[in-house]
Amino acid sequence: MLSVKIVGLGKYLPKKVLTNHDLERMVDTSDEWITTRTGIKRRRIVEGESASDLGTKAARRAIKAAAVKPEDIELIIVATITPDTQFPSTACYIQKNIGAKKAAVFDVSAACSGFVYALAVAKGMISAGLYKNALVVGSEILSSITDWSDRSTCVLFGDGAGAAVVVPTTESKGILGIHLGGDGNLADLLILPAGGSRLPVSKSTVENRQHYIKMRGNEVFKIAVKIMVDTVVKALANSKLRPQDIDLLVPHQANLRIINAVAKRLGLEENRVFVNINKYGNMSSASTAVALCEAYESGRIKKGDIVALDTFGGGLVWASCIIRWD
Ligand code: ACO
Repeated sequence: MLSVKIVGLGKYLPKKVLTNHDLERMVDTSDEWITTRTGIKRRRIVEGESASDLGTKAARRAIKAAAVKPEDIELIIVATITPDTQFPSTACYIQKNIGAKKAAVFDVSAACSGFVYALAVAKGMISAGLYKNALVVGSEILSSITDWSDRSTCVLFGDGAGAAVVVPTTESKGILGIHLGGDGNLADLLILPAGGSRLPVSKSTVENRQHYIKMRGNEVFKIAVKIMVDTVVKALANSKLRPQDIDLLVPHQANLRIINAVAKRLGLEENRVFVNINKYGNMSSASTAVALCEAYESGRIKKGDIVALDTFGGGLVWASCIIRWD
């Protein structure tokens, strides 16, 4: 059976930087609280850009790095919980922007695990022989669903996009193993309550601020560590590998304390864990995509390395992916 390998990565972060000190002027918080509780120092925030605008810029860079022509892209999957519109999908807008005229296009909704879910779908479709390549994008404008008067959430999130081009490869290279999971019983822990068919937009949903992320952060925190360890160990087992085989863990960037706890349980030293949460905060599906791109661009990933993507998010959903870098 064929697998897929990544042949191009790209990222795009909006220019505007919002620091912890800026947030001190907006809500009752402090740089010290945010830094010690989350590891975040600053985040990027859009000014008039949408998820497809960010995704398009990241996609163009990934396509250029992969040395493929946009018109040769056969499949575009965009992971996002902040699409430009409910429909058409954000993938449609990115297709139009880059001129990938013959591509099949759709979005995946798996919150912070979205990029790895989308990679898994691309792998499945390519392995089945349906397509010869895919553009996988994680793009989020979390600032558009952040309640800027709620200090318990507004300090956490940021905007950004990352993208990867994948092509077929033999079984022993590229994506070796994947583990995906979810538990809808925990949906209320992390949710955007209104704007869907259950609670359509109305005057009262707006007045009750139900179009913003609601999170029971402390409960999510405790579950996150266990889930992230569990899912990556299962993906490693699917790849016939163990935690000590990981050269670089690229975890979802939700909280530095979560990342450190996961690394400790896996027995990984600091130099085998990629962290950029200090610069960008939590960008949901874009976090892992941007982190992977930065890890590669900064020389932290070399040919032959075992790279583990390890994510969890609203759903709750979780996803891990083991890659032998080629
Ligand atoms: N500044 C100052 N104080 C604050 C702030 C703030 N920004 N936010 C909360 N506090 C206060 C609380 O009010 C509370 O005060 P109290 O003790 O007087 O009641 C105190 O700090 C402790 O609050 P906790 O919620 O217990 O703080 P905790 O240490 O758990 O940190 C955090 C909160 C950062 C949200 C953490 O729980 C976390 O990171 N959770 C996981 C988040 C996550 O990973 N989400 C999943 C991905 S998101 C997605 O899918 C879109």
